[in-house]
Amino acid sequence: MKKVIVLGSINMDMVMETNRLPKVGETLLGETIDYYVGGKGANQAVAASRVGATVSLIGKIGDDTFGSKVYKHLENEQIDVSAVTTEKNIFTGVASIFKLKEDNAIVVLPGANMLLDNADNDLNNKLTTKDVLLTQLEIPTETVKNGLERAKKNGATTILNPAPYNEKVIDMLPFVDIITPNETEFEGLLGHSIGEAGQFEKEMLDWSKANDTQLIVTRGGDGISYTTEDKVVTIPAKKVTIVDTTGAGDTFNGILAACLAKGMTVSEAIEFAGKGATLSITKLGAQTGMPTLEEINAF
Ligand code: RIB
Ligand code: NA
Repeated sequence: MKKVIVLGSINMDMVMETNRLPKVGETLLGETIDYYVGGKGANQAVAASRVGATVSLIGKIGDDTFGSKVYKHLENEQIDVSAVTTEKNIFTGVASIFKLKEDNAIVVLPGANMLLDNADNDLNNKLTTKDVLLTQLEIPTETVKNGLERAKKNGATTILNPAPYNEKVIDMLPFVDIITPNETEFEGLLGHSIGEAGQFEKEMLDWSKANDTQLIVTRGGDGISYTTEDKVVTIPAKKVTIVDTTGAGDTFNGILAACLAKGMTVSEAIEFAGKGATLSITKLGAQTGMPTLEEINAF
């Protein structure tokens, strides 16, 4: 079985539940605070590991309390953390997440994540095999591009989750086999917004004709759409009781990479990963609801 290598961010998520956001100048009393390990890289690595993939994470943390907490947590999740390095005099990435009833608002302080550089990609001698590389954009874009390029040269399958969107993605496309934007990030890729909903599929087809990268768009409650040779296929999302959508995209990406590493076809992998993402939103915290293989099969 191939391995999954995740190149990406590691954060401590501080999830504060409030009924609404404070106004500027206002002090608001919230309800609860919970600490969860998060960051798109760590989340995707955990999602892949929970469904049984062999996962290595390349990332950076600070030499603070959060750093040692997240490191232990990732080890407990059976992730190879030999390429997670600790940097002195910098804090571990933190995400302040205001969890409202229906949605959330997030401020990310990247800290050590922004010090992950091309030299760290060297740590990953695992990239010399034909594995699956999964990466996102909460670390320096140069590092992402370099990682994709190396992986591609070594014959790996490369997946880019372009979140949060950054226009430098365009330069990375030659090294990306599969790209997984959400609807907003897809508009970023297009360089314009999609006015009417009916235009969406046409935009996906046009983009896919012009680019060699497999396009998969995650559309929240509307499911997941992907292009095949001449059409767009949409897998509808099953209805569940939503508790927390934080990390749903990460769950999708991690499981997608795991399934491809196991040798599933892209469409099988998308369907499986979609179910996993739906299950993940039924629990609070980005990683809490990430399912195992058995849980997805039973769903
Ligand atoms: O994608 C969700 C993640 O984004 C959270 O875990 C938070 O850390 C932010 O980076
Ligand atoms: Na969740």
